Amino acid sequence: MAETQSLSYLCGLADKLEKSQNLSDDELHSVLLCDNPDFIHYLSEKARTVREKIYGKDVFIRGLIEFTNYCKNNCKYCGIRCGNKNAERYRLSEKEIISCCDTGYELGFRTFVLQGGEDTYFTDDRIVSIIRKIKSRYPDTAITLSIGEKDKESFRSFFEAGADRYLLRHETADKEHYNMLHPSDMSFEHRMQCLYDLREIGFQVGCGMMIGSPYQTTESLIKDLRFLQKFKPEMVGTGPFIPHRDTEFAAFPPGSAEMTVRLISIIRLILPDVLLPATTALGTIDPSGREKGLKAGANVVMPNLSPTAVRNKYSLYDNKICTGDESAECIRCITSRVSQTGYRVAVSRGDHIRYGNSVLTQ
Ligand code: SAM
Ligand code: FES
Repeated sequence: MAETQSLSYLCGLADKLEKSQNLSDDELHSVLLCDNPDFIHYLSEKARTVREKIYGKDVFIRGLIEFTNYCKNNCKYCGIRCGNKNAERYRLSEKEIISCCDTGYELGFRTFVLQGGEDTYFTDDRIVSIIRKIKSRYPDTAITLSIGEKDKESFRSFFEAGADRYLLRHETADKEHYNMLHPSDMSFEHRMQCLYDLREIGFQVGCGMMIGSPYQTTESLIKDLRFLQKFKPEMVGTGPFIPHRDTEFAAFPPGSAEMTVRLISIIRLILPDVLLPATTALGTIDPSGREKGLKAGANVVMPNLSPTAVRNKYSLYDNKICTGDESAECIRCITSRVSQTGYRVAVSRGDHIRYGNSVLTQ
């Protein structure tokens, strides 16, 4: 059993991960399940060292603009899925989105993340127009899109308009598990194909999974890690699953902060230069979750830039934090949390190191 394995054996596994040596499934089991606190500390210190070697003490900030909570999909875990008749729907106008960017730029953000449900109102032309407006106003910023699955030509038009990055969590690399989390009109293969299309077009690509989602097994997590090793994304978004009262998963327990932080460390070791956020969901299940994530290998935080009036309507899961504060308050709070970890917020686009623009401007 993993629990009875010696500390030196376990630390040897972390060393192997760092050296990009392949771990067997049994070894990955041990890394994921063992509850030896000395090992968990060793893993996290190792991840922190690797992150500092590559990105120093900088933490990159992304201004998150949740611009629509309309969605045509019905993901079983998600509070804004189309089947939730209790969700109060909203979408921001182009003018409102630009105004969020104005506020964000003033506050030091050099990456804007446009996130939303798969809202058919936002046609490719509308998205392209928004990208062009932001880029012409703020040419020194990066745009990340997180607007779900599209066809390759749509992705290409967004890239040509100036979008730099695309976040599309794969949610789980285990097909059977994927089918338990999604309705039958959604396809594991299509989601994966989108990731390969985005990569081919030239985006910095982000995938990722929820930790502790219903029916997730250690085997599913091992498949996730193997997929990450193979796909080598530039970004990985991992947060705990948190139930939403209006979903069929309402009674499932949330994922744990401890497991999420452990995964952050493992991912840092297998993908040393990855951009890895300490997510709002992690801060929701544990008040100091984001700080723990940063100390264990994460190097990105994503404060909210959405107008306060709509924040609580972008309700993916229950008790989401940061829904009441103005953007200026959010960045103040995050800056202070970051500095408590010994790191500093960087005013820069914060690109992946292979894309070369991660230069500090202050
Ligand atoms: N529609 C886009 C997409 O599909 O990628 C972006 C929006 S979607 C709400 C963003 C992410 O929220 C999902 O990829 C999922 O991992 C996460 N999410 C949704 N419901 C969640 C829940 N109940 N707990 C934690 N994370 C959740
Ligand atoms: Fe579409 Fe969640 S079901 S954003």
